[in-house]
Amino acid sequence: MIKHQLIVVGGGLAGMTAAVIAAKKGIDVGVVSLTHPVRSHSTAAQGGINAALKNHPKGKEDSWERHAFDTVKGADYLADQDAVEIYAKMAPDIVRMTEHWGVPYSRFEDGSIAQRPFGGAAFPRTAFAADRTGHALMHAAFEQGVKYGVKVYEDRPVVRLVVRDKQVKGVIALNLVTGELEAYMADAVIITTGGYGQVFAKTTNTIHNTGFGMAIAFWTGVPLKDMEFVQFHPTTLYGTNLLISEAARGEGGYLINNKGERFMKKYAPEKMELGPRDIVARAIQTEINEGRGFENEYVHLDLRHLGKEKILKRLPQIRELALKFAGVDMIYEPVPIQPGQHYSMGGIDTDKDAKTIIKGLYAAGEAACVSVHGANRLGGNSLLECVVFGKIAGENAAKYIKEEKPDNSDAEKAINEELEDAKKWIEGLRNANGPNDPFEILYTLKNTMTQKVGVFRKEEDLKEAVETIRELKRKFYEEGIYLKNRDKCFNRELERVIYLQGMLDIAECIAYGALERKESRGAHYRVDYPKRDDKNWLKHSLYWFQGYGKPVKMDFKPVTITKWQPQERKY
Ligand code: FUM
Repeated sequence: MIKHQLIVVGGGLAGMTAAVIAAKKGIDVGVVSLTHPVRSHSTAAQGGINAALKNHPKGKEDSWERHAFDTVKGADYLADQDAVEIYAKMAPDIVRMTEHWGVPYSRFEDGSIAQRPFGGAAFPRTAFAADRTGHALMHAAFEQGVKYGVKVYEDRPVVRLVVRDKQVKGVIALNLVTGELEAYMADAVIITTGGYGQVFAKTTNTIHNTGFGMAIAFWTGVPLKDMEFVQFHPTTLYGTNLLISEAARGEGGYLINNKGERFMKKYAPEKMELGPRDIVARAIQTEINEGRGFENEYVHLDLRHLGKEKILKRLPQIRELALKFAGVDMIYEPVPIQPGQHYSMGGIDTDKDAKTIIKGLYAAGEAACVSVHGANRLGGNSLLECVVFGKIAGENAAKYIKEEKPDNSDAEKAINEELEDAKKWIEGLRNANGPNDPFEILYTLKNTMTQKVGVFRKEEDLKEAVETIRELKRKFYEEGIYLKNRDKCFNRELERVIYLQGMLDIAECIAYGALERKESRGAHYRVDYPKRDDKNWLKHSLYWFQGYGKPVKMDFKPVTITKWQPQERKY
């Protein structure tokens, strides 16, 4: 059995930040991750990280309070404002901390960190490293991990969390190289496994983002929160749904329909292309649905007026992506884009200290729902969340380990029991001989989510989605599936099937929550309930596990309001 004081599950930006911060406090940390940290999805983040640094000539009046307010308004008032205050207040120091880690931020002429405008923000406050900000942050965080002796176990998806009497004991991971399960014992565990984009057919998310970290917490009785709030990024590349950064609009790009109009003037007359993502995504989808798109599928993102020099300096990666994956050179041609799933506002229910309801179990980053993003996240607020709450989780886990000295005398026994049980489960899947092709289940799930639980939602579609998901669960659990590949070494088929089990529950939470929430708020838009309803729905949804293959259960908890009473949201 491998032993560390702290196990971080997931080696992305939130995970490596948490690991570094705890290691700096003298804690022995292991990161168990399904991929190497510098291959994690955090590296795909492009546009930037928000902080009221006041470096931009138009941002001199910015403040943490204004950042907090923009975040709360962007969230359509569903964010917990105590958490948002901590987050926005910490932001400038967080950017400076990562600068000291060595992040090569783009600069203004005077040498200060450059900032650009992003959607829903009163001032240009998004710091960036060209359009490779996540890549730069991730490499710097990994280097810090090396510096502070963090041990990384890669190619090991964690498949079980071990919890006894509401206290965490460790985790079980599948070593993809050997095909064997491995047991890890720890006083504290932090889950930082990112989002669930792969539950949708059209997503900017990598294949790693299946929401499995949320699922393993859910299965041990930790509630998931606000799962119906799914962010659809307005500008994903038509054909592949690769991210075309909001930075393109931050730098001055236009959205154009088939009539040659900058249509955002109808939807967000003041902010135009820099409205918040939920509003811009709905605007684009409306243009497409009403026949003002191209081929009924996409609109144009036009950057030609920015000029070659600016595109090459500020947006080199997205130029390359559009060139390689759509054959379009944005210096000379408009880019075909459409909305696609991008981010999960919901996740593992945590408080502002990154704690869950299980002693010693923390979560941070996209896997968690603190909630600072409420019903709609602003662009540039995700990288910030990873570092802020990764840091908070690392600090609090270290404090818990040192000060509370958790009693783990029964941990070995508990982990060994869980290991035996997990072996039976994995061997059962590897040798499964049921009638159903798991990939048919997977693709039906993904297509159902994209078609029925998308930008615009309505009762009949959502009911159909919930019924389909429950039927898929029945097929998986009651009828059974079969695997073609029974190898042990890098059995990617087995790996996908393990994740599928989690994805079925995650998808059910999203679709069921969307069906139950009879209002429109942020990214959750019901055409049959088009107004926000604070009287009945200014509350978080919570989802509870009821047993494998069983329907999920839902209840609610209040939103924390500190300074900002809900108002109508106009841009
Ligand atoms: O558009 C983007 O560059 C994405 C940024 C984000 O999701 O925060």
